[in-house]
Amino acid sequence: MPDATIESVLQEGRIFQPPAELAARARIGSMEAYRELVARAEADPDAFWGEHAREQLHWFEPFHTVLDWSNPPFARWFEGGTTNLAYNCLDRHLDGPRAEKTALIWEGEPGDSRRFTYRELQAEVCKAANALKALGVGKGDLVALYMPMVPEAAIAMLACARIGAPHSVVFGGFSAEALRDRLIDGGVKVVITADGGFRKDKAVALKPAVDQALAGGACPTVEQVLVVRRTGEATPMEQGRDRWWHELVDSQSSDCPAVPMASEDRLFVLYTSGSTGKPKGVVHTTAGYNLWAHLTFQWIFDIRDDDIHWCTADVGWITGHSYIVYGPLSNGATTVMYEGAPRPSKPGAFWEVIQKHKVSIFYTAPTAIRAFMKSGREVPDQYDMSTLRILGTVGEPINPEAWMWYREVIGHGRCPVIDTWWQTETGGVMISPLPGATPTKPGSATLPLPGIAADIVDNEGHSVGVDEGGYLAVRRPWPGMMRTVHGDPERFRKSYWEHILGADGRPLYFAGDGARRDADGYFWVMGRVDDVISVSGHRLGSMEIESALVSHPSVAEAAVVGRPDDLKGEGIVAFVTLQTGLSGDAALGAELRKHVGAEIGPIARPDEIRFSDALPKTRSGKIMRRILRALAAGEEVSGDTSTLEDRSVLDALRV
Ligand code: PRX
Repeated sequence: MPDATIESVLQEGRIFQPPAELAARARIGSMEAYRELVARAEADPDAFWGEHAREQLHWFEPFHTVLDWSNPPFARWFEGGTTNLAYNCLDRHLDGPRAEKTALIWEGEPGDSRRFTYRELQAEVCKAANALKALGVGKGDLVALYMPMVPEAAIAMLACARIGAPHSVVFGGFSAEALRDRLIDGGVKVVITADGGFRKDKAVALKPAVDQALAGGACPTVEQVLVVRRTGEATPMEQGRDRWWHELVDSQSSDCPAVPMASEDRLFVLYTSGSTGKPKGVVHTTAGYNLWAHLTFQWIFDIRDDDIHWCTADVGWITGHSYIVYGPLSNGATTVMYEGAPRPSKPGAFWEVIQKHKVSIFYTAPTAIRAFMKSGREVPDQYDMSTLRILGTVGEPINPEAWMWYREVIGHGRCPVIDTWWQTETGGVMISPLPGATPTKPGSATLPLPGIAADIVDNEGHSVGVDEGGYLAVRRPWPGMMRTVHGDPERFRKSYWEHILGADGRPLYFAGDGARRDADGYFWVMGRVDDVISVSGHRLGSMEIESALVSHPSVAEAAVVGRPDDLKGEGIVAFVTLQTGLSGDAALGAELRKHVGAEIGPIARPDEIRFSDALPKTRSGKIMRRILRALAAGEEVSGDTSTLEDRSVLDALRV
């Protein structure tokens, strides 16, 4: 966050009460009601979670144990039970009038749109599930999705869940290289993709990236590719490997029973960046994830039967998993999915969707809000957004200025702003206001949800005092927590459970974020404390970008840091030393940026590349990123530089 923002966060004193009308009808309508839930969860967590799981999910077989935490950090929730996420999202709504309720509204980029009732969506999911079976996919087989934002993405996810095949959704903006890494790491059997999608007024091909990822037998486990026709552009298909969705799926039976899955059966793998190594495959399992996506959606959006919920994320990220697909559908809500994005030729694109579909709950990212602020209130003011009642934000710290703009310009002061803190690893929201209960402060995610033992601690696991900075941690397991890193349980332990030793000897979940708590107990999340860079709310590991840079033949060494960016939260600056005899110029800089784009995806392209003869290192050879961060931000290098091996490096980098 820019320093000016940190300053204003520290001085922030405004408080907004929940609107009385909303509170009067809310599921959790007062701080007393919230505190009562917190106290119940505190007093007997097993009883609390057990009761919610029994009430909120359908069980084929009831569970006998709520939580087995005998082998931390490997939690087992709701053992003995069997359930199915697709059943909970679809079939259980078909008994009554909800069957004919709209489940999914899809708005395509060129203006085409589709709607599915719960009954229709269930039938589509069954057909897709039967198609997967026809391709040889069975329980436990991993299916990758590399898709644009089309209804088939949600249908495919639910189809996988229906037959117990875990999915691994790879964001469509990732490159062929990044896709290949994820296909290999997962041991994926079938890939579902599309010929392309529409992005910013033009058709963008996707299938060629799949071909490239699979070329030369690079992913030997991948047997088949299922291709949705979206753009209609000419698309080469490989005989025996590639099948068109409309040819295979449309002719399938719409009857496909949901497979009873054990609570701890794998539901999905989703890759995210950490501070070391390659992206990790975060593993979520069936019942715990389902419960957490379901409950959090209900609590934080105070969902009502007539709500139209729109989350602007891509299904390639956890936000899309939990709050476009699973949370809303599990609750029987109407969810909107949008293929497009605002852009200079269509600055009002989002507001048009809200007006057209009468959206009542809108969930987006601070980076989008800051971009809207820049183009002025004249744009949203042209649209009727009176249907809105709750505004949510997620992905990065929101500066109070953007928060206030969101509240006043988009919500006209009527809608609570719900700043939700969470992560891919947490499965669902962890810290957030409840719209009918929690007084909000601009820039604060406020308080942990009931049952979430979030804390801010020092290195030894002691809670820090009021307004003291510390590490955001969670003291007790929760149902939606990730279970492991795919294929690497040790990495799971090391990345999340070994940073802080619990003062009472119990393990603590380390989130990787810094935070402070004010006198009211409100959490203010300040951003990552590790080498993860957050660009427009997308997580990128410095090391991943560094590896991409050094894979270019001209590069000898690279160090990548974030620097504050008014729009994107953080921008990427790469310090690069070249192979002996080479010198850096603008053309090479452009080439390296392109190279990173091809290795990871356009979002990882550095904003700036600085060539230098050497990088600042400690005597033990560790790159001193703190120094590079200051240099990238144009700040004075402060603090101790005595461990620097060669001080002249610093002087050279300054100019
Ligand atoms: O740094 C925090 C930031 O996003 C990280 C999680 O990123 P990811 O796994 O990609 O999930 C993003 C969507 C849930 C966190 O470690 N972050 C997320 N929400 C907030 C946030 N930082 C501050 N305030 C938030 N509301």
